[in-house]
Formats: sequence, C-alpha cells, structure tokens
Amino acid sequence: MTLPVTAQATAPQILARCRDLVRPAFTQAVQRLHPWPAEMAAFSLGWSNVGGRLVPGSHGKGVRQALTVLCAEAAGAPGEDAVVGAVAVELIHTFTLLHDDIMDGDETRRQRATVWKAYGTGPAVLAGDALFALAVETLANARTVHSGAAVRHLAGTLNDLVRGQAEDLLFESRPWTGPGAVRPDEYRSMAEHKTGALLGCAAGLGAVLAGAPTSTVNALAQAGRHLGVAFQVVDDLLGIWGDPQVTGKPVHSDLRRLKKTYPVLAALATDGPAAGRLAALLTSDHPLDDTAARRAAELIEDAGGRSATLTEAHHHIDSARDCLTSIPLAPTAVGEILTLLQFLVDRRM
Ligand code: IPE
Ligand code: IPE
Ligand code: MG
Ligand code: MG
Repeated sequence: MTLPVTAQATAPQILARCRDLVRPAFTQAVQRLHPWPAEMAAFSLGWSNVGGRLVPGSHGKGVRQALTVLCAEAAGAPGEDAVVGAVAVELIHTFTLLHDDIMDGDETRRQRATVWKAYGTGPAVLAGDALFALAVETLANARTVHSGAAVRHLAGTLNDLVRGQAEDLLFESRPWTGPGAVRPDEYRSMAEHKTGALLGCAAGLGAVLAGAPTSTVNALAQAGRHLGVAFQVVDDLLGIWGDPQVTGKPVHSDLRRLKKTYPVLAALATDGPAAGRLAALLTSDHPLDDTAARRAAELIEDAGGRSATLTEAHHHIDSARDCLTSIPLAPTAVGEILTLLQFLVDRRM
C-alpha cells in the first residue's frame, strides 16, 4: 500500500494562509484609527484609492505577520494565539514604510504612489505615527497573559529600527572609497538594525505569545534577525536589477541617492578594473542620470557584486536554519518557515 503524499505548502500558499488568519483582526485594528490616517493606511495596504474607495489592490507580501504565526506554531501553539502579535508587527512595518519613503524620497511602492506622494509629507508622517501608536496599543490591550511580555519584546525593537535608519541615512554622505568608506561590518550592523530587528521581533513575538521558554524565544528571534539581513541584501539587489513592474518599487533609486547598498560595497571591495571604473563613475561630480545608473549596474555585476550579494544572503539563511535546528520545535511549522526562507532569497518581488 502506498501512503498518501501530503503535499507541502508553497511559500505563496503559506503567506496567504497567514494573511487570511490575520486579516480580520488587522482590518478591525486599522478601523480604530481616525478616519484620515485610516484612509492613508488603507491606501498603503492596497485596500483603497485616494478618497477611500475600496479597490482590489496590490498588497505587501505579509512576511512579518507570517513569521509571527509560524513561530507560534513552531513553539507548539495554534497560530490564532499569535494573531495579535502579527497585527502589531504588520502595523509597525507599515509605519516604517510610510516614514522610510519620505526619508528615501521614493515615489512608488506596492505598484502605486507612496503615501507622502499621494497625500503629502505631513499627512504621511501622521499616518505613520498613528500606525505606530496603534501597534503598541493593540499589544498592550491583548487579551492574553503574555501581553506585558509582548509589549516589552516590541519595545527594544523600536529603538533598533531607529538606529538602523539613522545609520542608513548617515551612510549616504560617507565616501565610496578611502578611510571613511562604509565597512562590511558597518553595513551588516545597519541592516540587522533597520530590517533584522523587526523580522527578529516578529519571530520572537510568536514564541512569546505561545508562552514558550526564553531559549525558544531567543533562538527564533535570532533566526529572524539573520533572515532580516538576508532579506535586506536581496532588497538591495532588487533595487538595482529588479523589475519595477514586479517589485512595485523604483529601480536605481538607491544608486542615485548614494545609498551604501551591499552589491555596490561588495563590488568596490574587489579592487579589480570594473571596481575602479565603478568608483570613478560613482564619485564623479555629476549626479547619476538613467544611462549612468544603468552603466553602474553593469559594472557592479561585472565586479561580482551581484553574486557576492546572493552568497551573503545564503550565508545568513544558513545561520537562520542553524538557529531553527538548535532547539526542539514542531516539525511542520519549521518546514514551512524553511520554505519561506528559501522563497525570500529567491524572490523577484
Ligand atoms: C520592504 O519590506 C522593506 C524592507 C525591509 C526591505 P517588504 O519587501 O516586506 O515589503 P512589503 O510589505 O512586501 O511591501
Ligand atoms: C528598509 O528600508 C527598512 C525600513 C523600511 C525600516 P529600505 O529603504 O532599504 O527599503 P525599501 O527598499 O525602501 O523597501
Ligand atoms: Mg526605502
Ligand atoms: Mg530606507
């Protein structure tokens, strides 16, 4: 007799399952906001157009909410126990995107205008603040004995996020080469703060809400932080070679703003002829136009910056896997987390 083969869920199916689980509580939370920030939040989330008319839109991937649900399941609890945490991390994520797009001057996200572009900078700052406040309130009022621990878990993350964004912005005015150039360890610290912090929080929060022991919370949070660095270097890569139709975000915007992204730093570190030409292009007095940005992308690839970025991403995914195998966890949930990790390094969006 052959046993029935249980098909393993694909990453899009896993993300959709978690999105469906979290969506009712998430919608209810957003509805608690003042109607104006609520409309901007709904616009950012792809639920409505400017003016608040409901549309079937393009939403985010929902990585952080999925991580919270899956990590609660990995720690032996039903995903439902972690929904309140999933709502909080997705609210924080949306808040950071609203403010990040202002800081980075980016005009598109999720296939549509950014909130500051559609509603103005002041309103977008306010909507971000509203989402931030709502996230904290949501966790503080959660009907679970783990509510206090969950708020404390989130609090440290918020500081790290600010630190990461501060480093990211300060790096824009650092030179590409010479003694003041951004070192690889400085890049990693920035990425671990600006992106790893929230992914680590999302993972750890699932375990906190599952009532898991500290060792489990710490191992899952560490896995999330590694995933965050992998996720960020892939985001850097997509900002140079991604298709804006697929990513929904601008291409070459990081290059024009002199962002110290991983592919460029890795390319310059090779010191070969392509790196020399790249350094000359990046340090010329003229701001990069479209042609120069395309040339820079070619030189980064020629110098090996693209493949070095994928190697770095895989290295952090391996470390995340090691964290997951360092403690006893529910195997089905771990299988789904591993599927998600692979999807996130291979993604085009
Ligand atoms: C974008 O995050 C910000 C980064 C940390 C790179 P996502 O790529 O998860 O954004 P959405 O939610 O899917 O749009
Ligand atoms: C990601 O910032 C981290 C935060 C939003 C806090 P990036 O600026 O690198 O991400 P994208 O490319 O705009 O999504
Ligand atoms: Mg940005
Ligand atoms: Mg940014």
